[in-house]
Amino acid sequence: MKIAIIGQGYVGLTISAFASKLHEVIGFDNNPATVANLNAGKSHIEGVDSSQIASAIASGRYRATSNVADISEAEIVVIAVPTPLTKERKPDLTFIESACKSIGENLKNPALIINESTSFPGTVRNYIKPLVEKYSKKPLNHLYAISPERVDPGRVDWDQKNTPRLYAGLTPEASVKTREFYSTFCDNLIEVSSPEVAEAAKLFENTFRQVNIALVNEFAEIAHALGISVHETLDAANTKPYGFMKFNPSAGVGGHCIPVDPTYLAFVAAQQGVPATFIERANEVNLEMPKYIVSRVTADNGGSLKGKKVQVIGVSYKPNVADTRETPAEIVIEELKAMGAEVTWHDPVVKYWQGCNSSDLGGSEIAIVVTLHDVMDKSGVTKSAPYVFDTTGKLSGVKGL
Ligand SMILES: NC(=O)c1ccc[n+]([C@@H]2O[C@H](COP(=O)([O-])OP(=O)(O)OC[C@H]3O[C@@H](n4cnc5c(N)ncnc54)[C@H](O)[C@@H]3O)[C@@H](O)[C@H]2O)c1
Repeated sequence: MKIAIIGQGYVGLTISAFASKLHEVIGFDNNPATVANLNAGKSHIEGVDSSQIASAIASGRYRATSNVADISEAEIVVIAVPTPLTKERKPDLTFIESACKSIGENLKNPALIINESTSFPGTVRNYIKPLVEKYSKKPLNHLYAISPERVDPGRVDWDQKNTPRLYAGLTPEASVKTREFYSTFCDNLIEVSSPEVAEAAKLFENTFRQVNIALVNEFAEIAHALGISVHETLDAANTKPYGFMKFNPSAGVGGHCIPVDPTYLAFVAAQQGVPATFIERANEVNLEMPKYIVSRVTADNGGSLKGKKVQVIGVSYKPNVADTRETPAEIVIEELKAMGAEVTWHDPVVKYWQGCNSSDLGGSEIAIVVTLHDVMDKSGVTKSAPYVFDTTGKLSGVKGL
């Protein structure tokens, strides 16, 4: 089949890599630099090796493009564009709208249009379908479906093949064709009764994580105040074989999903007049963690950070990925600067961020470990400053959460 995948980021490129094993895939991205790199056989995301892209290109079944007309013959179109928040922290569907415009204006034949971008219930039915129709030059009876993406960048045990995938079409025919497509590279497909259920399930999965992360972060503060180890307490609770799931405290949440998706759910809840109190409180608790960490570091260092050299170690939002979107490290750095500290950052995976290169490890009086990548030498990090505060719970013999 001829597949067009709109957006060649974490989600779109991952799908492209799998789908191009069998299908003819056009990866459309409006960033020409991304397209040039991909066509040179270079992957820009963790989880997809450059060798996979190079061999897909060599097989003749994959090509990246920034020329939207190249999607015109597609039989299936997968939407994988960002769904961030606006400055007012409301759902921002402008990327989806622009993808719908590209689809509407360019497809020549009826196709199956599947949304993989995360959004609120009703997006496929009330937003994507009307927009594609609005931009289409002539009426084409496209089919519409949703199959929310569950990729966890950097993870190797769960991938496109073995991660169960939810899906639902707007019509029975759309459901059947969606199943046919994904069953070519995914082992476990679960149909739900409507696109709204699939869309809501995706949001709830990430809200579950967001709320539990906030709960454990709040508990970290309580445990410290009680003078007990949060990690030992969590390990003890985790010996219960049922009814408990362990989450670890951290500097907060980051990436494109956990800090964003729950707000999409809160948005539709508010539209229905239902308060989403857990989501709002969880957001607050997670966003307050950097301040709490800086307050702990300040207290341990004579009550002031003014003029002190502080290095933040690990600035991506989670280990082993270079993704710095919504990273809590950014707020930690802002808080430190507000306290008058001289701040540097070190991250061998991110390398370049906010216009600066990663500093060498060490050379500061204080180090705060926000993210610990596997490539980092733990003992080097532990010895990188006279005072080290670890937010990850992975270092021993230093201060921390
Ligand atoms: N990253 C994840 O782990 C993950 C997991 C599950 C779901 N999601 C969801 O998947 C969607 C995509 O996320 P991502 O992480 O892949 O984003 P990303 O930023 O990594 O990639 C998006 C790509 O889309 C391109 N793009 C933007 N607008 C475009 C347009 N109109 N036409 C063509 N290309 C366009 C961008 O240049 C970029 O390369 C989001 O809704 C996200 O919430 C992400």
